[in-house]
Amino acid sequence: MSLFKVYPLQPISITKALGSHVWDEKGMEYLDMYGGHAVISIGHTHPHWVNRIEDQLHAIAFYSNSVIMPIQEQLATALNKISGKTDYELFLCNSGAEANENALKLASFHTGRKKIIAFSKSFHGRTSLAVAATDNASIVAPVNETDNIIFLPFNDVAALEKCFAENANTIAAVIIEGIQGVAGIYEASNVFLQAIRQQCDQYGAVYIADSVQCGYGRSGKFFSHDFAGVHADIYSMAKGMGNGFPIGGILIAPHIKAKFGLLGTTFGGNPLACAAALAVIEVMEKENLMEAAAQKGKTLMEALQNIKGVKAVRGKGLMIGFEMEPAFADLRKVLLENFKIFTGEAKPNVIRLLPALTITSSDIDLFLKGLSDAIHLISNKTT
Ligand SMILES: Cc1ncc(COP(=O)(O)O)c(C=O)c1O
Repeated sequence: MSLFKVYPLQPISITKALGSHVWDEKGMEYLDMYGGHAVISIGHTHPHWVNRIEDQLHAIAFYSNSVIMPIQEQLATALNKISGKTDYELFLCNSGAEANENALKLASFHTGRKKIIAFSKSFHGRTSLAVAATDNASIVAPVNETDNIIFLPFNDVAALEKCFAENANTIAAVIIEGIQGVAGIYEASNVFLQAIRQQCDQYGAVYIADSVQCGYGRSGKFFSHDFAGVHADIYSMAKGMGNGFPIGGILIAPHIKAKFGLLGTTFGGNPLACAAALAVIEVMEKENLMEAAAQKGKTLMEALQNIKGVKAVRGKGLMIGFEMEPAFADLRKVLLENFKIFTGEAKPNVIRLLPALTITSSDIDLFLKGLSDAIHLISNKTT
């Protein structure tokens, strides 16, 4: 049997990883500026994470959500503390799409309404409601098409206010990434997030902060939405939460009430996943990784701004996108093949940097040197 080919693959097989470095089966070393797609938060195979998962594996890996699991309560308490959302409650699941799916369902249950506002170029995952709220028709199957999603232009306060005024009392939720990732690293403005909060309050809708990619400290704050100084009603999380161990979740404001049977999952919140997530938070606190993300991101962005060929630099902390002149369309390929550096992309010409929050200054220098050399190489070929 062969694999169902839905991913265009790099011809590389990674067999070992440590910190911000990975090795292929021939022993070739690569610098990971992609963090396995924003997933690696505390560095590959961090020893505390490995030990905590290993210890948990020896105790108990799984039981169903029909029994008390103190490790889930520990995770909820740790999340309350690190996020500053001290009175929010936690529902655990397994991925980012599931987190958004549950957030959207919960908003609909809570309000008794059907309509969702999402924004141009959004990406919220591939389950039915999450993909319907994703602005990419090519990944929405006919069965997922629905009239319940209203797409509005990103960062347009007037369009948001007009939509609420015209659809008063039918809007269940607004879902927004604090920094759009797949779109190519575009920040929601503080003014826009404040307007979402205000409109949701005025019309009784739920503000859902999709923090799957921009959350978990990557921006320099626990949730990038926090830069706007307002609280969302639900925060969705995944990617960095388990440092590669599959886990997702939503943080839910106290005015949204739980009821038995409202949400549910078999695997969500299993002890092994909770151990991985607790290890991540423990390392983030011990190694001050949010401050590190803010400071290292600033250094990296300033350096990028001074590199010839770089047209624009966007982002916050260690969620960075830089746009290249069209002549450098092959830059990502050259970085990987010639300089052994993994990066992300957003078509047509944005390179995305989503490294581990533990990345060292010397690895940042290594990346900047590789980038300059790659740009030189391409320039010399084209002149
Ligand atoms: C902002 C955002 N939301 C949701 C998702 C979906 O997460 P998952 O792939 O874990 O389902 C992603 C994945 O890239 C994402 O970037």
